[in-house]
Amino acid sequence: MAVSRTKKKNLSKKPAASKSRAAPRSAAASRTAAAKRPKKIANPLGLEKKAPDQFDTLQEIALTAYRKMPAPVWDHLMGGADSEMTLRRNRAGLDALALRQRVLVDVRNIDMSTTLLGQKLDIPVFPAPVGGFLSKVHHEGGPAVARAAVSRGTTAFIATAAKPSLEAAQAAVDRKLVFQLYVRGDRGWVENILDRVKAAGYAALCVTVDRNFYGRRERDIISGLPVKEGFGDQSYQASLNWKDLLWMKERVGLPLIAKGIATAEDAELAVEHGADVVYVSNHGGRQLDHAQGSIEVLAEVVKAVAGRAEVLSDGGVQRGTDVVKMLCLGARAVGVGKLLGLALSANGEAGVARMLELMEVEIRHALGLMGVTSIRQLGPEWLREVPVLGTPSSVSAYPLLEAALRNPRG
Ligand SMILES: Cc1cc2nc3c(=O)[nH]c(=O)nc-3n(C[C@H](O)[C@H](O)[C@H](O)COP(=O)(O)O)c2cc1C
Repeated sequence: MAVSRTKKKNLSKKPAASKSRAAPRSAAASRTAAAKRPKKIANPLGLEKKAPDQFDTLQEIALTAYRKMPAPVWDHLMGGADSEMTLRRNRAGLDALALRQRVLVDVRNIDMSTTLLGQKLDIPVFPAPVGGFLSKVHHEGGPAVARAAVSRGTTAFIATAAKPSLEAAQAAVDRKLVFQLYVRGDRGWVENILDRVKAAGYAALCVTVDRNFYGRRERDIISGLPVKEGFGDQSYQASLNWKDLLWMKERVGLPLIAKGIATAEDAELAVEHGADVVYVSNHGGRQLDHAQGSIEVLAEVVKAVAGRAEVLSDGGVQRGTDVVKMLCLGARAVGVGKLLGLALSANGEAGVARMLELMEVEIRHALGLMGVTSIRQLGPEWLREVPVLGTPSSVSAYPLLEAALRNPRG
């Protein structure tokens, strides 16, 4: 039976008699009680005041982006290579791990800060490089993402193809960012771009090593979306070898991040050739089809690196719990690619900042409910392998979006 609004009001009202019977408390007794009472969590949801055009959940961000984006652009962002098996394995690998939880731990204060190459990150999440995609959905691209990341206390990876220029993104913020390089020219071309990276003030050079061929993204081929296979001459990227990596590090004089490592063998080689950071990634399932999921290879890479370099990872991350799982397996921080594209499409720079804030909220909730007060306490002992439920895909972390996709667009 439905309870009317007036009845509800009456039900919550305190009976007058009990109020008058309550014994008056002495000031000293009230002070002792107050001292014993745990401090209130000031902002239980952990969210800053909502702007009128903002979101309360990551799912709303994804739904809004879906409604706003033309189908071919959506497919370009959310799709993977060929049969999209790697794309699905990124999610399946995450979904195949359950979190363990401990209770009765005081979790009012949770430290989720981390460091990357000595730079403090308030949250263990950062925008991954998503190339020229940024300017497909936003007039400013790189600078907008840089500002949003820095406003949430983290760094951003700025891609070679990010518009308007590598200099503009770094100049937009007073924190040193990471520059991600694709090699599309001869030594002279590379020297020129590395000099610009250094002069612009970047903190580190990230060389993406899993893009020697451009993945066959059939959604784009079939939709006819005019996505170029990248700028410049691709054959230089295809000819890259380990010695080039070392040469680039020496030339730029900055710490080196090797992005796209997916085996223990390559992790070992990356460290031998000067990588200060080994970044586990399969390009969000956009390159080699039928590869392992990112999280499935994280443990072997962390073991091979054996503390000689820092480890980052990405691939299928859509939730705070996904971040926690990667941290448990040894990642220092975690990148988001598709989620960045969704947030930028949904509400520009403010959307990206809100996405990072919501990630922070979700991570804090997950850690609190696990009884963890610092991400430094995390390790593989917090995870258990479990059967995967449902069909993992690039949208399966958001059930309402999955449902929207099952129905044709209105
Ligand atoms: C639209 C799009 C463009 C991308 N462009 C680049 C790029 O220019 N350089 C690069 O290293 N990785 C690029 N990536 C890969 C991302 O950096 C990241 O590895 C991947 O998206 C992580 O997986 P997720 O999308 O499931 O979060 C791109 C990814 C997407 C979705």
